[in-house]
Amino acid sequence: MSKNFDVVVIGGGPGGYIAAIRAAQLGFSTACIDEWKNEKGGPAPGGTCTNVGCIPSKALLQSSEHYEHAGHAFAEHGIEVKGLGLNLGQMLSRKNTVVKQNNDGILYLFKKNKVTFFHGRGSFAKGDAKGYEIKVAGAAEETITAKHVIVATGSNPRALPGVEFDEKLILSNTGALAIDSVPKKLGVIGAGVIGLEMGSVWRRLGADVTVLEALPAFLGAVDEQIAKEAQKLFAKQGLVVSLGVKIGAITSGKKDVTIEYTDDKGNAQKAVFDKLIVSIGRVPNTIGLNAEGVGLKLDERGFIAVDGDCKTNLPNVWAVGDVVRGPMLAHKAEEEGVAVAERIAGQHGHVNFNTIPWVIYTSPEIAWVGKTEQQLKAEGVAYKAGTFPFMANGRARALGDTSGMVKFLADAKTDEILGVHIVGPMASELISEAVVAMEFRASSEDIARICHAHPSLSEATKEAALAVDKRSLNF
Ligand code: FAD
Ligand code: NAI
Repeated sequence: MSKNFDVVVIGGGPGGYIAAIRAAQLGFSTACIDEWKNEKGGPAPGGTCTNVGCIPSKALLQSSEHYEHAGHAFAEHGIEVKGLGLNLGQMLSRKNTVVKQNNDGILYLFKKNKVTFFHGRGSFAKGDAKGYEIKVAGAAEETITAKHVIVATGSNPRALPGVEFDEKLILSNTGALAIDSVPKKLGVIGAGVIGLEMGSVWRRLGADVTVLEALPAFLGAVDEQIAKEAQKLFAKQGLVVSLGVKIGAITSGKKDVTIEYTDDKGNAQKAVFDKLIVSIGRVPNTIGLNAEGVGLKLDERGFIAVDGDCKTNLPNVWAVGDVVRGPMLAHKAEEEGVAVAERIAGQHGHVNFNTIPWVIYTSPEIAWVGKTEQQLKAEGVAYKAGTFPFMANGRARALGDTSGMVKFLADAKTDEILGVHIVGPMASELISEAVVAMEFRASSEDIARICHAHPSLSEATKEAALAVDKRSLNF
């Protein structure tokens, strides 16, 4: 096996494995090094996303939603479920199977595209503009060389100062995806994406979930109108979210965790939970890379410093995904991976940061692209807004899921779409139309004049676009 490559990718998450495949497609001899181990110690490429992120969380969100529907929502459809039970072991084992299918899929794709895979930790040994030596520490230690290196080493969960994750009582995303019996009382610190998704999973399965959030506003980065609607809907489901709290001492007992905190009125509070998920953001991961040894520059927050093209300070060393600035999203990592491989090939890879969609996979789902109303106000941009509620959409009524709305924001003068925000059924799928429209710099009138299938949820998108010009047809 050759040990000399045109491109070596360190990290096999969505940023790294996609970069490796694209580089191989472009004709480069390519290797990808990834250290993630499955429970048998074998390779498990796919990174956080595949192993303890996007994929297992969506598997559990789906399973827990089925369970909840069987318990409540089916009755409205005239489907009676008697003797409903939960086999959590089976649910977790299905999730593990879904993860493994994805791990195996990536190994297959490496073979198909002739990407050489190394299972182990990659670190810089030495190098310059002519090439780099990368040490791989796996079952055996070996050294490979690269003309170009793409670093895609991802991120790790942020811990509260002095409160380590033990993954038994105090859980990161890893433990939150593998609780082996439904906790009676589950605490979550941080009402961000993980807190809401994992809080929803365990609430649906029967836990009393309390989410403690430091900020006074719910989902501060989301369009305010959409966030308020979502907050109302989550409260109705029984998800307790306390805003504006200040977390104090956290003490682990034998079987529970006690949290002292101050509430938004300044009152001292104490709560005891069977398990505690800490989801207060993630930090870039450069552990073991020997960045300092070769002079690879990090920024003040520990991210690998890159320019707009994902170039680092070292010649022919690039970095993509969670380990660099920008949203920590799998699809952002993938786009950067493709763009870098294409730039290495002398092409003009490009990532449009203005059209990266966000999705929170709660029920209802929350999805958005572009600017929020509060951002447009702060920037002094004159805009028009149009909203359409799913309550007035025939397909949503047939589904029995009429919560939420679609909201369009368009430039007051040119009508160009500046942002689209959705809370409601299948928002994760509906947002794609808005992404395409914004990528092509469409106006709300363009969407309003496009024929949408009936009955479909996407008609709510068309109607919200019509509402920008105050001419909704069904509301
Ligand atoms: P990672 O996926 O973190 O992959 C990095 C890989 O590099 C890992 O396998 C790691 O072991 C390996 N590695 C690190 N250092 C070395 C080294 N020195 N040598 C060899 N290997 C190394 N994003 C979405 O877009 N949609 C979602 O629904 C979503 N859900 C999420 C749910 C949860 C619970 C979490 C935690 C995250 C979620 N994310 C989601 C975020 C998403 O997982 C990340 O944005 C994405 O995984 C980043 O990809 P990456 O390739 O940059 O890094
Ligand atoms: P997050 O940034 O989404 O949310 C963290 C929350 O914790 C924030 O609301 C923050 O104000 C709060 N917080 C921070 N410190 C706190 C403290 N001391 N006390 C109380 N609250 C505190 O981070 P999260 O949920 O950990 O997720 C990490 C990242 O993973 C996300 O930002 C996202 O990029 C990615 N992700 C994406 C998903 C998706 O796309 N559907 C799903 C899950 C994660």
